[in-house]
Amino acid sequence: MKFFIDTANLDQIREANDLGVLDGVTTNPSLMAKENIRGEENIKKHYVDICNIVKGDVSAEVIATDYEGMIREGKELAALHPQIVVKVPCTKDGIKAIKYFTDNGIRTNCTLVFSVGQALLAAKAGATYVSPFIGRLDDISTDGVELIRKIVDVYNYYEFGTQVLAASIRHTMHIIQCLEAGADVATCPLNAILGLLKHPLTDIGLEKFLADYKKVNG
Ligand code: G3P
Repeated sequence: MKFFIDTANLDQIREANDLGVLDGVTTNPSLMAKENIRGEENIKKHYVDICNIVKGDVSAEVIATDYEGMIREGKELAALHPQIVVKVPCTKDGIKAIKYFTDNGIRTNCTLVFSVGQALLAAKAGATYVSPFIGRLDDISTDGVELIRKIVDVYNYYEFGTQVLAASIRHTMHIIQCLEAGADVATCPLNAILGLLKHPLTDIGLEKFLADYKKVNG
């Protein structure tokens, strides 16, 4: 399972990357706005900055909602750096754009996916990744992890090459559940990644090891 960080914050990306277990980054317009990155040139520069920190794929989302606009923006984003994956919303024009990008060697991440049907169209269009938003489904009393499980089953059965990228992960339990559901990638906030490390028995055990060492070594 690949680990992506879901943020546009460079410090957090560096911190996760320094752990040595980071495989990529996902961003979206909300995450870019949170970092106050504004203006086309600054946004593009920010994507390149992210690519220069991590080795893996970096999802950069189109703003256009029409086919022609998505194609223009997607080409510009893809040209920024070989690690860029063009993130496209799961709409009618989005699916058409993903098919175009697939046919032209541009990798894509189909985002805002909330159903198996949407995931099917993303895979048929040749998306590199499909991003089901599990936290937002949980928010409306629908089991987000169950959707991951269903998409993984369908993709495996029909041997689709699209990778299931579990998104809108909110906490460590989501990560574990996505792992168990067979997601190819989990994109997580930094606190959820670091949360995986937390265990009181680790802290207590380490304290005891050090105390015993000091008893003998002073
Ligand atoms: O990866 C998608 C993510 O950024 C959305 O997360 O917490 O806004 O639902 P959230």
